[in-house]
Amino acid sequence: MPKIVNTHQAEAWNGYEGHHWAEYQDRYDAVNSGFNDMLLAAAALAPHHRVLDVGCGNGRIAWLAAQRAAHVLGVDLSGPMPARARAAATGVPNLTYQQGDAQVFPFPPHAFDVAVSQFGVMFFADPVAAFANIRGALRPGGRLAFLSMHDLGDLAEVFAVFGGTPVPVSADTGPLSPSDPAVIDRVLTGAGFTDVAAEAVEAEQVWGRDVADAAAFIMGWGPVRFALRNASPSTVDRARDAVAAALAPFADGDAVRLRGTARLVTARA
Ligand SMILES: C[S@@+](CC[C@H](N)C(=O)[O-])C[C@H]1O[C@@H](n2cnc3c(N)ncnc32)[C@H](O)[C@@H]1O
Repeated sequence: MPKIVNTHQAEAWNGYEGHHWAEYQDRYDAVNSGFNDMLLAAAALAPHHRVLDVGCGNGRIAWLAAQRAAHVLGVDLSGPMPARARAAATGVPNLTYQQGDAQVFPFPPHAFDVAVSQFGVMFFADPVAAFANIRGALRPGGRLAFLSMHDLGDLAEVFAVFGGTPVPVSADTGPLSPSDPAVIDRVLTGAGFTDVAAEAVEAEQVWGRDVADAAAFIMGWGPVRFALRNASPSTVDRARDAVAAALAPFADGDAVRLRGTARLVTARA
């Protein structure tokens, strides 16, 4: 097992959070798949490219990239999620997954043409060090393209029932930290990247087939579970009812669809 410095995140992604993501792979893919084509287009993949997927999770983006490029390596802090990804990639010879901390992973120098990430670069304790390590894995002139959270989009309305977001908000670390273009520019420039560009993008996210299904899934999501960790069973029941009521306006036929917002960031090594 390679060195890990993001120990707190490693515990989360190898604990409840990572197991939840692995178990509900299809559900999380349904939430985020509306962003896939935007990220792949920004990555501008070519058949000869060697691609690194940072924080690859259950591996969907790496799998899609492997259909368009020469080779893809997915790296993730989690054990359960890349295990899931490996199982789905049987018979895809140009795709490998490794467990590791991208902040300090011993990538072969300049071995990749493109680094991509779908919401996997928002958790570094030292973002400048982490992106510098990723830059070192890219050939000079290589491309970085990633998605990070912008704000909570329509989820903010659902989370209002908790009196605010259960997702930790901090300027420099935490999942919402790479949402401010000035922070993104400072971090990536500090890590040695150039031509940094960040645009706001949106996609429809499917959270469940109906209100009860979506509420149950959201109640199991790591940040919500954590926010309610000391709550009594009756409080949890009331929270589930409140989440379901907040989701009702988003139910549409056979799905509950929320607008998700993200930053699509590109830069050059
Ligand atoms: C929100 S999930 C996104 C997973 C996947 N890219 C997707 O779109 O479904 C964040 C992922 O980043 C990974 N991650 C967090 N910090 C990491 C680090 N320092 N190095 C590598 N992976 C990391 C987590 O284990 C998790 O799989």
